[in-house]
Amino acid sequence: MPAPSSLPFETRVWPVKKLKDFYARSIEQPEEFWAEQAHKLEWSRTWDRVLDWDPPFARWFVGGKLNASYLCVDRHAKTWRRSKVAIYFEGEAGDSRVLSYSTLHREVNRFASVLLNLGVKKGDSVALYLPMIPELPVFMLACARIGAVHTVIFSGFSAQALADRVGDVGARFLVTADGAFRRGKVIPLKATADEATALSPLIEKIIVVTRTGMPVNMTTGRDLRLDDLLANALDHVEPVPVEADHPLYVLYTSGTTGKPKGVVHSTGGYMVHNYAAYQWVFNIREESVYWCTADAGWVTGHSCIVYAPLAHGAAIVLYEGAPDFPAVDRWWDIIEKYGVTILYTSPTAIKMLMGHGEQWLARHDLSSIELLGSVGEPINPEAWQWFYKYVGGERCTIVDTWWQTETGAIMISPAPGIECVPMKPGSATLPLPGVDAAVVDEAGRPAPPGQRGYLVLRKPWPGMLLGLYGDPQRYQAAYWSRFPGAYNTGDYAIQDSDGYFWMLGRADEVLKVSGHRLSTAEIEAAVATHPRVAEAAVVSREHSTKGESIVVFAVLRDSAIPSDRLKGEIADHLRKAIGPIASPDEVDFVTRLPRTRSGKVLRRVLKAVANDTPLGDLSTLEDEASVEDLTRSYRQLKQERAKA
Ligand code: WT7
Repeated sequence: MPAPSSLPFETRVWPVKKLKDFYARSIEQPEEFWAEQAHKLEWSRTWDRVLDWDPPFARWFVGGKLNASYLCVDRHAKTWRRSKVAIYFEGEAGDSRVLSYSTLHREVNRFASVLLNLGVKKGDSVALYLPMIPELPVFMLACARIGAVHTVIFSGFSAQALADRVGDVGARFLVTADGAFRRGKVIPLKATADEATALSPLIEKIIVVTRTGMPVNMTTGRDLRLDDLLANALDHVEPVPVEADHPLYVLYTSGTTGKPKGVVHSTGGYMVHNYAAYQWVFNIREESVYWCTADAGWVTGHSCIVYAPLAHGAAIVLYEGAPDFPAVDRWWDIIEKYGVTILYTSPTAIKMLMGHGEQWLARHDLSSIELLGSVGEPINPEAWQWFYKYVGGERCTIVDTWWQTETGAIMISPAPGIECVPMKPGSATLPLPGVDAAVVDEAGRPAPPGQRGYLVLRKPWPGMLLGLYGDPQRYQAAYWSRFPGAYNTGDYAIQDSDGYFWMLGRADEVLKVSGHRLSTAEIEAAVATHPRVAEAAVVSREHSTKGESIVVFAVLRDSAIPSDRLKGEIADHLRKAIGPIASPDEVDFVTRLPRTRSGKVLRRVLKAVANDTPLGDLSTLEDEASVEDLTRSYRQLKQERAKA
């Protein structure tokens, strides 16, 4: 850990020679560099070649064999860490469970035995639709143990969203819970899983974890209680060594079309990269108590709650519920209760907690915190300062970590585990070792310092996706076609004269709502299935806590009568189709959508209307009247709101 400084961060001066040298070597000799990192893990068979690069497909540690569950549990259960805390679980209702590495090891073995007894084989996909309870990481590791491929579906997703993902990945096995606790309410997960199964008939077996004890319908022959299955489970299942490029998991994320992308991650490259990056960024130590507040349904949970921390034998906190339940100091209470030393969270959460005021923090002893982290969206300097001052007591480094579902591991971030660089509030600072990031212009040429451009990655990296499930063309088209030879992240960024990266949000039609990734096309398609809607366009509006919020412009069918009630119905329809994360902030009715002469909807114009900013160049617009229409109805709407 860097010595905590009592100086304000602006005036700290650190030498950064070590980091620079380390970085330079990683770029100049990537294969030697990554092989060195890979040797920190245990392999059943050493690789023959570090990298086969057949653009855009990379295969790392070719010929090597390993097992991710072995690395996360067996490796520790064989040492003194067997009695070390692996997971501090905090239930929303205040119940708690502590799992040591030996307990975690036993549970992973027993769950793996349950899967084997049901006939799950290496390469089979298993869908996990679970709340944030220990059974989720245990099932992930149990899948990895037998070489099965898990697909975690965020428990806030609707039946339709669940069915789409399960159907795409072809899962025959689904694990869910009877229900989940959220803000003191019970969410019926099994009932949603039943609905999804009706839509996606591939599912043959549903394993039901008991969490709330609520009554559920059990279909004979298909639905099984985990507790019953555990009664016949073995305590030991040999971990199956898998090829380095055997898929560890598929995780769905939103792209620019309506169909979610199944991002496939490897076992070898993914584990090596995450093991290394986690150490560099979080400077993890035996005595650390690490809490990542993300849901395991996102990549942050996969890499930074499960695989990287557990591979390091770290003690993690897993919290089931909402940050403001039963009161807005719940998080501060948890930090105090477990003596959290590393807190990794999102700008949206920081802004929300900032909104509740620092008096809630003053009631708690947060002096255990040593390091703070942020991820998921750009953090504005004001939120950064608040985080630094009130949560970190002006003594902690903040790691603003930039990465994506596709990158698998953290890519651009301060690296206090190597050497501290001076922080700049709002900047993710510099690329981590092995990451060749650049900002380029429209033509793919490096953009000069201070100029906005597209963020690209110019070299393959071990944590990178193997591809998109069942769709190699889309993988090529989505990431490797815009700038030949480079991976297109889809983000805008600026590099300043010190080489620091400033992330400026998405350059494509992907939205970030409270850090969750949604595509405009996906939401538009869902709105359009409402019987009264003819067509719809969706844009984002800047939002003070959520970063971006959803604004829907809908053209109604002739027979439909516009009303506030219908707006509410459309909003509900979206929540049902995708999930509460897709709740729109506003639904507006318009008579037509602004289009280019070639018929493409000009979202840029709608975005300007929704955000009340200048409309810009309209020369490509087919029908200027539609913009007038829009601005008129929008002005009216604003007046109505002002009156109310
Ligand atoms: C997108 C990826 C991987 C973590 C969770 C998000 C945005 C992520 C930052 C950051 C600014 C960030 C980007 C990126 N993003 N981290 N530190 N600063 N923006 O994963 O859902 O795949 O989203 O999140 O726009 O492309 P994801």
